[in-house]
Amino acid sequence: MERKWWHNKTAYQIYPKSFMDSNGDGIGDIKGIISKLDYLKNLGIDILWLSPIYKSPLADQGYDISDYYDIDPRFGTMEDLDELIAKGKERGIGIVMDLVVNHCSDEHEWFKKACEDPDGPYGQFFYIVDHKEGQPLPCNWRSYFGGSCWEKLPGHDDKLYLHSFHKKQPDLNWENPILRKEIYKMINWWLDKGIAGFRIDAIINIKKKLPFSDYPVDREDGLSSIENMLKDATGIGEFLGEMARETFHKYDAFSVGEVFNEKDSELPLFIGEGGYFSSMFDFSTTNLGLGSEGWYAAKEITANDYRDAIFAAHKRIEGIGYLSNIIENHDEPRGVSRYIKAEDLSDHSKKALAGIYFLLPGIPFIYQGQEIGMENLSKIESLDQLDDCANTQLYNNAIDAGLTEKDALNVLKKHSRDNARTPFQWSAEQYAGFSNTEPWLLVNPNYKTINLESQKKDSDSVFNFYKDLIALRKDPKYSDIFVYGEFTPMHTDIDNLICYKRTGDKTIIVYVNYQSKDIDVKLDSPIKDVILSNCDVISYNSNILHLHGYDLIVCEI
Ligand code: GLC
Ligand code: CA
Repeated sequence: MERKWWHNKTAYQIYPKSFMDSNGDGIGDIKGIISKLDYLKNLGIDILWLSPIYKSPLADQGYDISDYYDIDPRFGTMEDLDELIAKGKERGIGIVMDLVVNHCSDEHEWFKKACEDPDGPYGQFFYIVDHKEGQPLPCNWRSYFGGSCWEKLPGHDDKLYLHSFHKKQPDLNWENPILRKEIYKMINWWLDKGIAGFRIDAIINIKKKLPFSDYPVDREDGLSSIENMLKDATGIGEFLGEMARETFHKYDAFSVGEVFNEKDSELPLFIGEGGYFSSMFDFSTTNLGLGSEGWYAAKEITANDYRDAIFAAHKRIEGIGYLSNIIENHDEPRGVSRYIKAEDLSDHSKKALAGIYFLLPGIPFIYQGQEIGMENLSKIESLDQLDDCANTQLYNNAIDAGLTEKDALNVLKKHSRDNARTPFQWSAEQYAGFSNTEPWLLVNPNYKTINLESQKKDSDSVFNFYKDLIALRKDPKYSDIFVYGEFTPMHTDIDNLICYKRTGDKTIIVYVNYQSKDIDVKLDSPIKDVILSNCDVISYNSNILHLHGYDLIVCEI
């Protein structure tokens, strides 16, 4: 496989609104990020992905862009961003912007012009259809945030427009070559500025199955998940190939796709050599346990489920390309709260989870706060306490299914995206040191115990363990094996053991006892050296390795 500059990098995702507030308005901003660049450098970060900071009404927290060429004043100015890019470069940190082009904001001038004149050129930038009151909708797709994906076109009672997400996020019509050209121009404008690349939002959604038609109803609301249509849509490759050729490839830029539901046969095209993207996220564990009813009915995830999902994902792309590994992002609850049983949650188990995903093949992404072990909110009293536009759908879906209010709030506590969006916990000071005024979203009350300052002081902390993991992956002695070594799942017949081998010029085995009870594992070969672990005492002889609950041991054999 051709070696690329991004293969050995460690990436970090910033959710700007909640990272660091520099000017005391309770909203994180670019200057706040600049003030923490040395922190990130010291942690060992090479690539910084910023969730959207473009001009936006923030209906979906910036994933609704009203000007692709400008910065929202709440986040700062273009000068601030230029400074961030330059200061990042000085520290060897590349900035990756979020590319949101399945849709824009209804406040984007394209959409405003489309509303003024739906038959004019900007009408063709969107999916606008004629519709008479009382007639059936063009199709029964359910938008991701609930309800139909059709909405009346402002100013036109006889027309509808399509939105896969929020009604303030009209879908862009990628079938229109003029629109596509505008998008490539914009991408190149950013790459010319010197950013390292893009994370590409909701990209599978750009290809619709046309003409619009109904899919089987899958909930009481009489609608059908938009995913049903996506599975049926073909031909996205033409758009993605064109975009890659016209933009990313020309700059050797890093591009990582938010790709769901891709077909096996498409993998080489997506992330193989010369593929549409440098990488795509491994979402194999994200929707584990989720059925068509919705999150309220999701099944608990077992250690075996987690292991089998990540192992299968990496086996699936073996020899093809690189996945980007995550345990959480701004769309998920906190990974430690989702993948570790509540009764087992501790710094020890958090480190075990960190080690598992970090040493797999692929590019590790850390989501802000993950490195200090940030957790879900432990209590949600009402919907009003939260912010995310996806909460209503999560909540109502549970209520419609007959859950009590209290139980529906518990669904949010487990699954709301706001769990990951609470302000970064820098210290035990008021507002967790994020701001000197009340932040836009509540601070997780556990900030007094979970915060960077206290983690820094504790040599056994989750934070220091992440530092060790990053350092190990960069250590010239081991870098090659963790980045390019072959991956082999091991002992998959033993319940709750997550074990894999990386082979190259050396052989490394990662053993994790992902449960609270002890186990003995028979060694295939004697351990030469333990290169990393989360435990104080490691007991093994030439045959047997003894593991306490949530012990992680990385050894060379
Ligand atoms: C992606 C983003 C998510 C957003 C959606 C619509 O899934 O990660 O935050 O709501 O796209 O842009
Ligand atoms: Ca601010």
